[in-house]
Amino acid sequence: MSSYQNILAFETSCDDTAVAIVTGQGEILANIVYSQDSEHTPYGGVVPEIGSRSHIEQIVSKTKIAFEVAKLSPSEINAVAVTCGPGLIGPLLVGAQFAKGFALAQKIPFIPVHHIEGHIFSGATQNNFPKLPFIALIVSGGHTSLYLCQEDNKIITIGQTLDDAAGEAFDKVGRALGLGYPAGKKMDELAMSGDKNRFKFPIAMKNSHGFDFSFSGLKTKALQFIENKDNFCLKDFCASFQEAIAIALVEKAIKACKTKKINKLVLGGGVSSNSRLRELLINNSLKDEINVFLPSKNLCTDNAVMIARAALAKKLSASNFLSDVRSNLKIEERELLLKV
Ligand code: KG4
Ligand code: ZN
Repeated sequence: MSSYQNILAFETSCDDTAVAIVTGQGEILANIVYSQDSEHTPYGGVVPEIGSRSHIEQIVSKTKIAFEVAKLSPSEINAVAVTCGPGLIGPLLVGAQFAKGFALAQKIPFIPVHHIEGHIFSGATQNNFPKLPFIALIVSGGHTSLYLCQEDNKIITIGQTLDDAAGEAFDKVGRALGLGYPAGKKMDELAMSGDKNRFKFPIAMKNSHGFDFSFSGLKTKALQFIENKDNFCLKDFCASFQEAIAIALVEKAIKACKTKKINKLVLGGGVSSNSRLRELLINNSLKDEINVFLPSKNLCTDNAVMIARAALAKKLSASNFLSDVRSNLKIEERELLLKV
């Protein structure tokens, strides 16, 4: 797949210090993720300054562990990949500067990667990963978007949330329920034994023309149910809330495939490990003969394997050590990272 033998990758765009070593064929030799969740939990969300400091404290030791696990030495690495945006500027800078330093010291290529590109290509070297073109639905704590991934490797945003991301809705409602941060996984677990038809939630933008989403109305309704407390049952509430999010996502993703006449759909991002979303997407896409690719659950939330795999999918001729980190980098601008 690539002329690189081994690639070292970093992902520090938010609250995980992730380091991976992946072969040129995409095989995972090491996948280390240090989660800062417990450091941010007391504040109910990510505090950027705490995140930056924690990345600085962790990145050297986690890189050493990755080399131990992979049983490789730095001289056996042929390229370095790192997330350069979008994300929190301090955390992005820590990963990018460390990666550049490593690449310069080893005199090897440096490959800047767009965070969403990482989520899209997290399963890229698995056998059943579809060939371009395909539609990608990326759902995380910071993003909820639909992308048209073209044959010429161009990625175009065709729909996005107009307000909260789906993961953000899980986290904000979870915080009101006292479930800590992040709450998506816990709500998913609670929902497993709950009744999804018990609470009625609005499905926003259901009949809108385009492919945009909106989750703030759903969040407001959820907070009203929580305040009202009458006959409140946590498991039923989580199942109903999760169902409304899954329906909104699945309907728009299938509509995008049908409208664009592309029968391949790739799911990605932290929320894509949600059990009901995965089940509903598989079930509802059958009748339209849409092939759905689900990444393995351990590669849904932020990790550095996805950054390595996205780097492998690029055809690179030169490194750009001047490439900067950008907190609001659009996917359409990702080529700017590579301009020398
Ligand atoms: O992709 P990710 O690790 O970070 C961002 O790029 O934002 O996604 C984190 C998000 C959080 O909002 C978390 O609550 C959500 O993914 N999440 C889930 C599940 N696992 C993680 N949401 C619903 N169900 C899950 N099983
Ligand atoms: Zn992410």
